[in-house]
Amino acid sequence: MESSVSPDYPVKTVAVVGLGKIGLPLAAQYASKGMRVIGCDVLAEVVESINAGLAHIHEEAGLEEAVAAAVAAGTLSATTDTTGAAKQAGVVVVIVPLIVAPDRSMDYRNIDAATRAVGRGLRRGTLVVCETTLPVGTTRQRLGPMLEKESGLKAGADFHLAFSPERLYAGRIFEDLRRYPKIVGGIDEASTKAAVDFYRSVLDAEVWAVENTETAEFAKLAETTYRDVNIALANQLALYAASREVNVNEAFKAANSQPYSHIHRPSLGVGGHCIPVYPHFLLRDATNGELSLVRDGRDTNDRMAEVGLQQLDRLLGGLQSRRVLVLGASYREDVKELAFSTVFPVVKLLHHAGAQVLVLDPLFRREELQALEAEVVDDVDTATSQPVDAIVVQAWHRDFRHLDWRRFKGLKAVLDGRGSVDPAAIRQAGAAYIAIGISETRAAAPK
Ligand SMILES: NC(=O)c1ccc[n+]([C@@H]2O[C@H](COP(=O)([O-])OP(=O)(O)OC[C@H]3O[C@@H](n4cnc5c(N)ncnc54)[C@H](O)[C@@H]3O)[C@@H](O)[C@H]2O)c1
Repeated sequence: MESSVSPDYPVKTVAVVGLGKIGLPLAAQYASKGMRVIGCDVLAEVVESINAGLAHIHEEAGLEEAVAAAVAAGTLSATTDTTGAAKQAGVVVVIVPLIVAPDRSMDYRNIDAATRAVGRGLRRGTLVVCETTLPVGTTRQRLGPMLEKESGLKAGADFHLAFSPERLYAGRIFEDLRRYPKIVGGIDEASTKAAVDFYRSVLDAEVWAVENTETAEFAKLAETTYRDVNIALANQLALYAASREVNVNEAFKAANSQPYSHIHRPSLGVGGHCIPVYPHFLLRDATNGELSLVRDGRDTNDRMAEVGLQQLDRLLGGLQSRRVLVLGASYREDVKELAFSTVFPVVKLLHHAGAQVLVLDPLFRREELQALEAEVVDDVDTATSQPVDAIVVQAWHRDFRHLDWRRFKGLKAVLDGRGSVDPAAIRQAGAAYIAIGISETRAAAPK
């Protein structure tokens, strides 16, 4: 059926709700394509900073320049008044986090508050697109009714509603915006079309319509769950290989030379807001027996920190009173983010085993790592002021790449939690190299 929605507000004005690591680059991107962008955030300091032309996120290449240019050109401004921005906008893009607690329970407060604020300002003809990753069905069943209740309008009949997953990789967002197809699904055909038209006008990448919001929501959960299960498979294969004289890195490289094989890297654990979390968006309503592989994959990956530290424990003949340095607190390299980082179980398990734990991460200030309850060291000089028995590589930041391992006096072993370190450099420093699937017996004997 043909929708009766007809925009009576300028589609050239876009409100971006949530000016974080993803929302701010999106706002700058839309502004660079000739849109008038009103960025909305609940944090007054974020809004003030942007209105002064200063990006509050510094790790994204090109972002500071893009924000400064857009603010100077008058195409980007920011406000804490989401409702006021929605009143002026032809398109509203919502990209605020859905918080997932360590026990995996979901906290919808941000997304609900943002949706209600948009609803209060919603006008006939506006397109609302949610980009925050959501459990299947949320856009239609939760956000739609909220927007309707607050606005008194009817989704589909009076305004468009769509979901489009954000799949960017923080740190290279502008590059990914050009490369990754933009997946779009609306609550009806007209909503899908409105969202496709909008994204075609602001992105260079291909825009790809799917049947509905549920399909678009599920696509994001499927792609992240695939990666989690794949890593779990890599971990299980690596552990199997460990006791069988297999060089697992060579084996995976060889296997992946077959175009259909994409085995990921074994690791100490999977962190971040996405990969360890989104499988739970599926598992929460999976009925008996459904998605057992997903559940097993999650459990496997969650066990890896313990498995790796057991290897280290065996190699050192116990961790009691050992000085162990953890390199990198972030969940992965070159990003300042602690969410679900494996650093937490690593520090906890080391403490439990009686080790003295030091953590070094140049991306964080000392006070930002307080939650770790470990001795935070600011630099390699401090870390090497006393002998270190072992190093656990949790996040292999760019800053570590030229590390001279020989500076660590007394170093006996390096547990490479990311499969990123050159084993030869470790052995040259007289220490043993171990990793998931690289068994102690294959490493050089510790001096
Ligand atoms: N960070 C990533 O790598 C990544 C990758 C792909 C997808 N995503 C998706 O993007 C979402 C946002 O991620 P992020 O990294 O930008 O988060 P972030 O924490 O960096 O930023 C979120 C921003 O939203 C603001 N906010 C919270 N509630 C609000 C409200 N009610 N109204 C207005 N603003 C509000 C916060 O103040 C913050 O500035 C994630 O939840 C996820 O669904 C993130």
